[in-house]
Amino acid sequence: MTKRVFIATYGCQMNVYDSARMAELLAPLGFGRAASAEDADLVILNTCHIREKAAEKVFSELGKLRVLKQRKASRGSKMLIAVGGCVAQAEGEEIRRRAPFVDLAFGPQTYHRLPDLVARASCAGGEVVETSFPEEPKFDHLPQERAKQGVAAFLTVQEGCDKFCAFCVVPYTRGAEYSRPVMQIIDEARRLVASGTREITLLGQNVNAYHGEGADGREWGLSDLVRALAEISGLDRIRYTTSHPRDVDDGLVAVHRDVPQLMPFLHLPVQSGSNRVLAAMNRRHTAIDYRRTVERLRTARPDLALSSDLIVGFPGESEEDFQATIDLVGEIGFAQAFSFKYSPRPGTPAASAADQVPDAVKAERLSALQALLARQQREFNAACVGRVLPVLLEKPGRHQGQLVGRSPYLQSVHLAAAPDRVGDVVPVLITGAGQNSLSGMVAA
Ligand code: SAH
Ligand code: SF4
Ligand code: F3S
Repeated sequence: MTKRVFIATYGCQMNVYDSARMAELLAPLGFGRAASAEDADLVILNTCHIREKAAEKVFSELGKLRVLKQRKASRGSKMLIAVGGCVAQAEGEEIRRRAPFVDLAFGPQTYHRLPDLVARASCAGGEVVETSFPEEPKFDHLPQERAKQGVAAFLTVQEGCDKFCAFCVVPYTRGAEYSRPVMQIIDEARRLVASGTREITLLGQNVNAYHGEGADGREWGLSDLVRALAEISGLDRIRYTTSHPRDVDDGLVAVHRDVPQLMPFLHLPVQSGSNRVLAAMNRRHTAIDYRRTVERLRTARPDLALSSDLIVGFPGESEEDFQATIDLVGEIGFAQAFSFKYSPRPGTPAASAADQVPDAVKAERLSALQALLARQQREFNAACVGRVLPVLLEKPGRHQGQLVGRSPYLQSVHLAAAPDRVGDVVPVLITGAGQNSLSGMVAA
């Protein structure tokens, strides 16, 4: 009889990539995918620690799983509960204390050991915790062959972060920066394309700090990697995320000009428009640096659309600092952006700062910022109406005869098209625009 695993994924795209790899690791052990925790023998929560809300969600989810586990036990069937990802890395011991019914906790750098860990957990009486940072990179131990990932796929090229922004847990949960060797990445990309993938998003916590060992023995940067991937025939689109403004070098700017497969959309987090706050955040760039970087990129690729991450209410943020963020956003004009209330995270320097901003002030600033960002997004989408955009058709839509695809600017586009067109890039006349998506028809 085959077993089933249910994997719930929280947090960033890297967790999405990791969850897919976990499923691939467990498949040879006879694990198929379950549609829900109810019909699973093994439940994995692949978790995120970035803000308090994200981390707390894990414990409320675990509460529900405990009830399910008990219900199953009373019927004589067994269900293993595993917690992976960044909460497991940061709070392995806390999980043991608050949720002793959890069988296994493992960090983002040790999931290649999952087959062994699951075997150990199913005979162990207590919880197995594996949160080391192993010497050998997990990528050397993952199965070469990828399961079919669909038209658009993620490919992790870099992990970890050495930047230590004062608010951020990532350097602690993901560990030090590591770049995969070029050939490993190109092989994986080729296999994805052979299995039907048309768009690859290169992932890294700090993806443009990529510096991997090249095919020629030289150290390659992200721009070299993008150029090499653009040689793969059948790979129509390349994206990368998330970049740090500090690491946008001239080579990277140049690939935006030279490589047509590289999509004209870039997620470039700025966090704040105030130099004082940026310095306190240890971001290592000023608001002016950011403006200049955007200018260089837009000169190379005039139709480049930008997205960003912004934090309001960082310790010490004054009304004036916040206004500087509003001004910067107004000036740059984002196609889309994520914005957050600052959330103090255990172990990070900013969490112990004396001048924390009251929650009511954070909430007020966030809603003002989000109103501006929502308006920019609506305007950006509205400006697409009447244009013909190349759209990569990804999957069936909600209605019969409808497909959903992506524009070069990562907008969802709904249109009527035959199901066998999935995987094609087609010219689409944009006829409608909403807050979060576009609609259109295949252009003649
Ligand atoms: N590596 C990326 C993003 C990491 S986390 C980068 O360097 O920008 C994604 C986003 O979460 C961050 O860009 C930041 O805006 C937000 N974030 C991180 N820690 C946070 C915290 N403690 N409180 C609120 N938002 C946070
Ligand atoms: Fe976190 Fe800063 Fe590293 Fe991004 S660059 S992952 S925000 S520490
Ligand atoms: Fe969250 Fe870890 Fe990603 S903390 S944002 S899942 S790197």
